[in-house]
Formats: sequence, structure tokens, C-alpha cells
Amino acid sequence: MNLAILTSGGDAPGMNAAIRAFVRRTLADEHGVWGIERGFEGLVHGNPVPLTATSVANILMTGGTILRTSRFTDFHQLATQVRAIESLHKWGIDGLVVMGGNGSLCGAYRLGQAGVPVVGIPASIDNDIAKTDYAIGFDTAVNNIVASIDKIRDTASAHERIFVVQVMGNHSGALAIAAGLACGAEAIMIPERTTRLDLIEKRLRETYARGKKHSFIVVAEGAGDAQQVAQELAVRTGQEAKWVVLGHTQRGGPPSAHDRIMAALFASKAVELLTKRQTNTMVALHRGSVQAVPLPNVIQSKKKSPLKWQDLAEILAR
Ligand code: F6P
Repeated sequence: MNLAILTSGGDAPGMNAAIRAFVRRTLADEHGVWGIERGFEGLVHGNPVPLTATSVANILMTGGTILRTSRFTDFHQLATQVRAIESLHKWGIDGLVVMGGNGSLCGAYRLGQAGVPVVGIPASIDNDIAKTDYAIGFDTAVNNIVASIDKIRDTASAHERIFVVQVMGNHSGALAIAAGLACGAEAIMIPERTTRLDLIEKRLRETYARGKKHSFIVVAEGAGDAQQVAQELAVRTGQEAKWVVLGHTQRGGPPSAHDRIMAALFASKAVELLTKRQTNTMVALHRGSVQAVPLPNVIQSKKKSPLKWQDLAEILAR
């Protein structure tokens, strides 16, 4: 068989580890393996590159994706999908792995519906993909945020300031919740729940009254703007408030051990599914085991963020 892999949408640390595992596992099973560059765009405008054991050497520990990625909105059009399918036929690809987040898996689903043997690998720092407990990149991103907030804490404490830290997550608060819980944030603002600044103000007043000298609010980008929140809280509390937007620093850097391990497990399972023709599926973590779930189920469902963790973080910060 000839198997191919592409990475699409926002990159996630651990994608390279998954590419490496996919290539080496495919070669171990004595199949051919190809890389498609720049995501779905490469299916339409590019050519596949042959991948070898050495072409994926020394990438296990790097962030980003050696195949590069794109947000290729043209792929929403049927005519573009048809061109992609024609390319796969022309190149003799017998099975395709699409690694990415919700938008990318939706693209994979469209190919699967059109008869392309496709398997998805969930990868997104947002960890907002349905039917899987885990998406590659999340653990590294949480650790990146924790490392940044631990540094900010030193200066926050020295100046006795409120810090509002904006993290990624346009539609999901999973990243903000995990980071907020890990950092002892006083409040976490997420897109799934409306936040009452008067309640945050009350909480900050209480913590300051019992002697706390600094505080953190973690805000997911889809829940508000850190600058506006900081300015509003400064007015309400009379305390100095600063803001930091962590931006793309969250998505870069070496993948954590957890992401490398999940990348190896997911990619290996993806090879197994392609070679056994269990396609139009996504590899998923469910209660500690790596399984196959039908892509249509993934696309039709929405993952819930762990709201109980958010409540717990706020109780523990009091
Ligand atoms: O989907 C992952 C993600 O990191 C989101 O949290 C964020 O909103 C988005 O990507 C940012 O994407 P870009 O790098 O294209 O601005």
C-alpha cells in the first residue's frame, strides 16, 4: 500500500512526533509512505514527497510540523474536494491520514464520504475534539502557559498587581481551565460561560482583605480581551492591573513527554486502521485506551470543557 499523511489547521506540538511514528510504523509494515505539504492545499496544488526513516530523524522533540500546514478555506468547495480526490488517485495513494483539529477533521470527513480511505488523528492545543479524551498538543500548551505564568507570578508578587493572562481558545475554554487550575488562578473566563466581573471583583476584594498581594485571572481569547478585563478590574478594585497576551508562544517549543507518547500511540493506530481498511474513522483516547471512532460521530458532536475543573480552581484559589 501507499499511505500518505498531512497536517492541517493550527499546528500542535507533537505533530512531528506523530509524523515520525507514522512513517516508521508504515515502513516497518513494509508499505510506502508519503507526505503531503501544507495540508489540504498540498492535495490540490502540490505533489507528495516520499518519506523515509531518515527524513523523520531528529524531529521527535521539535514543535511545529515538518510537513507545514495551512488553513485552506477553498476546501469547503465541492470542486476543490474533487480535485483533491483526483490527485490522490493520480498519485496512487491507498490511504490518507489527516492530522489536525475540528476544521481539518471535517475536511477528512468530506473525503471519507466521497470514498477516500481516510483516518483522522486529533491534534489541537484546544483539546476540543469530540469523541476523544485527548488531542495532541494540549499538554505541551498547558505546560507552556504554566511556565509563563510562573514567571509572571514573580513580578506580580513583587508589585502586588492583578495580572490578566489571555490564552488561546476561541470556542473552547479547555486550555484556560487546565492552565488556570494548574496555576491557582483566582478566576477563569471561558467562551462557554458568561463571566460576571462584579463577582470577580468581589472575590479579589475578599482575597486582598485576607492578605493576598497579587492575583491571576486566566481569560480564553474567545471569552474576552485581557486588556479590557484588566482595565475594568483596575477601576473596580482600585488595584493596579496588567495584562499579558501569551499568543503563539503557547503553541511552540518541544512537545512534552505526554504529547510524544500520545503521538506514537495515535499514529501507530492510524497505520493499523488504514491497512485493515477501518477507514472514515479517527483514532481516539477513551478511558485510557486508543480506539477508532467513526468520523461522522466526531463531526456531529461537540466536546464539553471540564466546567467542574473551573469551579474547583475557583474554590481552591479562595
Ligand atoms: O485551533 C487552535 C488555535 O490555537 C486556537 O486556540 C486559536 O484561536 C487559533 O488556533 C489561532 O490560529 P492562528 O494561528 O491561525 O491565528
